[in-house]
Amino acid sequence: MKILITGAAGFVGYQMAKYFKEHYTDVMVIGIDNLSRRGSEYNVPLLKELGCTFFHGDIRNKEDVDDLPKADWIVDCAANPSVLAGLQGGSFGLINNNLIGTIYLLEKCKRDNAGFIMLSTSRVYSIDELNKIPLTETEGSFVISKDAQYPHGFSELGVAESFSTAAPISLYGSTKLASEVLALEYHYTFGFPVWIDRCGVIAGPGQFGKIDQGIFSFWIYQYLLDRPLSYIGFGGKGKQARDFFHPRDLFGMIQMQISDPEKKVSRLINLGGGVENTYSLAQLDAFCKQQLGSEKVINSITENRSFDIPLYVTDYSLAQKEWGWKPEISGEAILNQIVEYARTNIELIKKL
Ligand SMILES: NC(=O)c1ccc[n+]([C@@H]2O[C@H](COP(=O)([O-])OP(=O)(O)OC[C@H]3O[C@@H](n4cnc5c(N)ncnc54)[C@H](O)[C@@H]3O)[C@@H](O)[C@H]2O)c1
Repeated sequence: MKILITGAAGFVGYQMAKYFKEHYTDVMVIGIDNLSRRGSEYNVPLLKELGCTFFHGDIRNKEDVDDLPKADWIVDCAANPSVLAGLQGGSFGLINNNLIGTIYLLEKCKRDNAGFIMLSTSRVYSIDELNKIPLTETEGSFVISKDAQYPHGFSELGVAESFSTAAPISLYGSTKLASEVLALEYHYTFGFPVWIDRCGVIAGPGQFGKIDQGIFSFWIYQYLLDRPLSYIGFGGKGKQARDFFHPRDLFGMIQMQISDPEKKVSRLINLGGGVENTYSLAQLDAFCKQQLGSEKVINSITENRSFDIPLYVTDYSLAQKEWGWKPEISGEAILNQIVEYARTNIELIKKL
């Protein structure tokens, strides 16, 4: 089996390459990355050590994509994943990266009759509707109010696939949503398998600690590097909450999807940590203080920033019903793994 991973030197892409090599004896993993993510260059020798074939290339360039070897599946992990991307300067760079690049990949799948797995995001969900979720404030977190009137597609389990995707969803979210629509259309028109995994926050060892890559590693690294932190928005108390899950659990779903490409289930599903793996910033901060030492939060800014939301929790019950999937690695285990990774790689993290 040949797997082509785009963004293979990024956080998720590298983890997927590693798991493919660990779990299959007959797999050839081909990676492409333009190394635009600071730190991704350090994963290139690691990919080669794993026995992956690596191409330094850019999915925005049609020729780079066309020149890639034929594969049975493309796992698309290349993107600019920042919700703030495209706000300053030109927005076309983001569209080129996250949408035009996807189209070149879909064209390749069509030509090679390869399957396509797209890592989409919970950022496709309507910010206005997310802001209508009834919340209760506890001492350390916003939590979903019980027995309240919820927006369509929402329940005590969180946000389901039927939740509104109406604008505003951010430029990032809209490039991903447009990519989803096209990917599904290519599937129905040209017949090759497409699976879309709408992921909540993915966190784990191997992140480079930049805030746009994920808040959980960022917060832990700031503690280890003895750097100041701020609570921003929602009253400045760190009560905003997110669920998160481990890339190993994502890989578990991808394994099932590639082993049963024709399965008569939803082509698009939510994946995430769910209510049981949801932490507020204040709860994450309490973990850091307990594990890593003295208080680093020195600033509280009460005003909200655009695109911020007080709570996001994934309802993954469709994935559970159709595939028997649920996150196996707990939030606490993920945080402990990040701490261990950061301690072992502190010199690298300092450089990034
Ligand atoms: N990390 C999360 O919490 C999360 C959540 C939901 C969805 N996702 C999605 O998962 C995917 C991977 O995210 P990540 O966290 O690993 O981000 P990342 O920034 O660590 O990895 C992305 C990689 O893609 C590469 N890349 C970017 N543009 C490219 C291009 N034009 N050509 C080739 N390579 C390019 C970057 O250099 C980087 O190595 C993205 O599609 C993202 O939208 C991530």
